[in-house]
Amino acid sequence: MVGIVFSNTQLQFLVILLVILTNTWTTCSEANTDHTPMQQELVRGFLAIPHSKPTVSEFQGILSDHTGNFSLGFLRVNQTQLALAVLHVPSSEPLWLANPTHLARWSYSTQLYFNGSLVISDPDTGYVWSTKTNGDRVVLLNSSNLQVQKNVDAGHSPSVIWQSFDFPTNTLVENQNFTDSMSLISSNGLYSMRLGSDFWALYAKYKTDTDQMYWQHKALEVKAEIVEGKGPIHARVHSDGYLAMYQTSNLPVDIQPFNSFQRTINGLLLVRLETDGNLKGYYWDGSKWALNYQAISDTCELPSPCGSYGLCTPGSGCSCLDNRKEYHSGGCLPAGNEDLCSEGIAKNSYQVLRRKGVELPYKEWMGYLTTSSMEKCQGFCERNCSCWGTVYNNVTGFCYIVDYPIQTLVGVSDETKMGYFKVRDQGTGRKKMQVGIGVGVGVLSGAVILIGLIGFGVYRTWKKRRGVKGFLEEEGGVSPGPYKDLGSASFRTIEMYNK
Ligand SMILES: *[C@@H]1O[C@H](CO)[C@@H](O)[C@H](O)[C@H]1NC(C)=O
Ligand SMILES: *[C@@H]1O[C@H](CO)[C@@H](O)[C@H](O)[C@H]1NC(C)=O
Ligand SMILES: *[C@@H]1O[C@H](CO)[C@@H](O)[C@H](O)[C@H]1NC(C)=O
Ligand SMILES: *[C@@H]1O[C@H](CO)[C@@H](O)[C@H](O)[C@H]1NC(C)=O
Ligand SMILES: *[C@@H]1O[C@H](CO)[C@@H](O)[C@H](O)[C@H]1NC(C)=O
Ligand SMILES: *[C@@H]1O[C@H](CO)[C@@H](O)[C@H](O)[C@H]1NC(C)=O
Ligand SMILES: *[C@@H]1O[C@H](CO)[C@@H](O)[C@H](O)[C@H]1NC(C)=O
Repeated sequence: MVGIVFSNTQLQFLVILLVILTNTWTTCSEANTDHTPMQQELVRGFLAIPHSKPTVSEFQGILSDHTGNFSLGFLRVNQTQLALAVLHVPSSEPLWLANPTHLARWSYSTQLYFNGSLVISDPDTGYVWSTKTNGDRVVLLNSSNLQVQKNVDAGHSPSVIWQSFDFPTNTLVENQNFTDSMSLISSNGLYSMRLGSDFWALYAKYKTDTDQMYWQHKALEVKAEIVEGKGPIHARVHSDGYLAMYQTSNLPVDIQPFNSFQRTINGLLLVRLETDGNLKGYYWDGSKWALNYQAISDTCELPSPCGSYGLCTPGSGCSCLDNRKEYHSGGCLPAGNEDLCSEGIAKNSYQVLRRKGVELPYKEWMGYLTTSSMEKCQGFCERNCSCWGTVYNNVTGFCYIVDYPIQTLVGVSDETKMGYFKVRDQGTGRKKMQVGIGVGVGVLSGAVILIGLIGFGVYRTWKKRRGVKGFLEEEGGVSPGPYKDLGSASFRTIEMYNK
């Protein structure tokens, strides 16, 4: 047997050595994570990891712009997740996230490094996000634009080979160009904003592969006209307080003025696509985000203010389409799956809900037929499994077709507007199916549930994050409690890093 025997003194020495080593190590790691001033640029070889102290801050700053107004760093999301984010420091509000639909873990194995590409990776889970570039440095501009730059010949300013402004998340800040290849996506993934050939519009995704337009602003072409074939339009938030659309010239083809139009505002301007589907503009007044613009000003005109099978009545708020049900925030009945078509025997797998005095909130953007009677309108929907419902106008004969799971309708006093809605039947339809189909559908619905759960997880994360961080919940101007906690906590951290 081989053994090592230590004398008492040797043992004491070893213990002391160990203590010294551990202390040195702790001090070192603390120095690296907590007290290093924020960098002004990242060069090749840069590496950062999230610090692991449990008392932590919600934001760990890494790179700052020269004014200190903006910071790139690790943003903690729902305790365990990590987003690489550009923050507006005074408000702790994230303006950009690297990969909003797929976040990394807040874990010691997660790394941010710059090797020509700015990379976040977590070898333990195989997570990788990268700018896929071959640059020389990373800088954060005083506009909040994060850039990867490459050196060119001496005497020339470096070229920009990647910038966060080209990959907006849900926010557009002033002077950020928004082109027809970009979209803003609300943090819950439901709503998007895009440019068309001569307009900008908001879309809802209630069903895979289907985008329903619910709001549109067409260029008024007062200062310049849109010339066909002269290329796509782009848009930009201007510091004089408007959102402008341009085609080729410097003269805008449209101007959408904000409240601060032509007023001198010192603070940052931005527009954000919120989780309720509204596009809102804000400016930073030095202490809070002041509402400066909203595309949709009437709550009941929002795409789904009362959730699935809800009814929004101007002046009296949310109730349920099914008036036997009591309204709870989030909806009245489950929105249902992707389609009634996948159910096999569609005819037997839903029940029908009828309600008079209802209208679609954005019917001008919905498809319709003209039928001579309500029965014909409903009959069309009954036979078509991709139809979820209809709203019939008994005066004009317009038959609006809803081809996505039923959302919120608008309550009107006009009883000649009649709604017909399919409600997925959970039990009977499935029982009637043959075993073979049943198994197939079982597997399918298993997959759907799984996707649903993942989706729900993502949504929860975002919802939580929004709840925690949002100036979005500014309806009434009250920030929920956790926001304050977080706000002050992350602010403290930022101050700490600035030391
Ligand atoms: C932050 O930006 C504003 C303009 O948006 C500027 O007036 C202010 O000086 C900046 N803050 C700092 C610390 O530079
Ligand atoms: C940087 O790291 C990424 C991820 O490990 C790798 O795919 C890429 O090839 C590296 N780039 C360079 C220039 O080394
Ligand atoms: C931001 O940077 C630009 C160019 O580097 C400069 O002209 C401008 O004055 C800066 N703005 C602030 C608020 O520092
Ligand atoms: C936005 O576009 C304009 C002209 O199209 C260009 O001059 C400007 O540099 C662009 N800004 C950014 C931040 O890319
Ligand atoms: C069923 O409804 C969808 C959506 O309204 C429509 O596109 C399709 O043409 C309809 N199919 C039939 C067979 O009428
Ligand atoms: C719809 O209009 C027709 C003819 O104008 C009328 O006979 C019918 O009663 C109306 N139905 C309802 C439910 O109002
Ligand atoms: C967020 O955190 C809570 C509590 O820590 C946890 O119960 C929940 O599952 C988390 N949600 C996600 C989406 O990770």
